[in-house]
Amino acid sequence: MTFALRPARLEDVTELEALIAVSARTLLAPWYSPAQIDAAIGSVFAVDTQLFDDGTYFVVAEGATMSGCGGWSRRKTLFGAGRGHTSDAESALDPARDPARIRAFFVHPAYARRGIGAALMRHCQQAASDAGFRTMELVATLAGQPLYAAFGFAAVEHLKIPLGGTLTMPVVRMSKHIAVP
Ligand SMILES: CC(C)(COP(=O)(O)OP(=O)(O)OC[C@H]1O[C@@H](n2cnc3c(N)ncnc32)[C@H](O)[C@@H]1OP(=O)(O)O)[C@@H](O)C(=O)NCCC(=O)NCCS
Repeated sequence: MTFALRPARLEDVTELEALIAVSARTLLAPWYSPAQIDAAIGSVFAVDTQLFDDGTYFVVAEGATMSGCGGWSRRKTLFGAGRGHTSDAESALDPARDPARIRAFFVHPAYARRGIGAALMRHCQQAASDAGFRTMELVATLAGQPLYAAFGFAAVEHLKIPLGGTLTMPVVRMSKHIAVP
C-alpha cells in the first residue's frame, strides 16, 4: 500500500480530530504531562477549517486509513482551532513581506518516523514558495522541533502557551528562509 497526500475535506473533521488526539496523547507523552496534553487538545491542537477553504491543509492516507495531517497558511494565525479567531488573526499575509505559517502537523503513532511529516513539509514548502512566500514560521511542540530543524528551521523564541489555570505548554517559535527558485 502506498501513501497518498490530498487536500482535507469537511467530512474529514471527525477523523482528523481523532488522529490529532491519539498523535498528541502518544507522541507528546515524553514531553508534556497528560493534563497539559488534554488541555491543549481541541484548542492548541485542533483542526482549523479555514485552511480547508484555502486548500492549504492536507491529509496523508494509506488506503482508507488516515496516517497524518498538516498544512500551511497564508493567514496570520500561528496555531489552534479556527473557532474564536479574530478577523485580524484571519487576515491575509503579504507573501513579499510576511512568513507563511506551517500549521498542525500530526502523524498517527503507528506511522511515526516513516517520512510522513517530511512529505507534508516538502509539499507545504513548495506550495508556500509557489504562492510567493520567501520565509516560513511556525510554533513547534518540543516533539516537533527535530522535524522542523531537519528542514532548516531555526528557533527564534521560546514561549509558554497558557492552557487555563496554572497550566502552560512550552513551545518554540521557529522560522526559515525558502530558497528562491
Ligand atoms: C512531529 C511529527 C509530525 C513528525 O512526523 P514523522 O512522520 O514521524 O516524521 P518523519 O518520519 O517525516 O521525520 C523526518 C525527519 O524529522 C526528524 N524527526 C522526526 N521525528 C523525530 C524524533 N522523534 N526524534 C528525532 N528526530 C525526529 C528526523 O530528522 C527525521 O528523519 P529520519 O527519520 O530520516 O531521521 C510527529 O512526531 C508527530 O505527530 N508528533 C506529535 C504531534 C506534534 O508534536 N506535532 C508537531 C506540532 S508543531
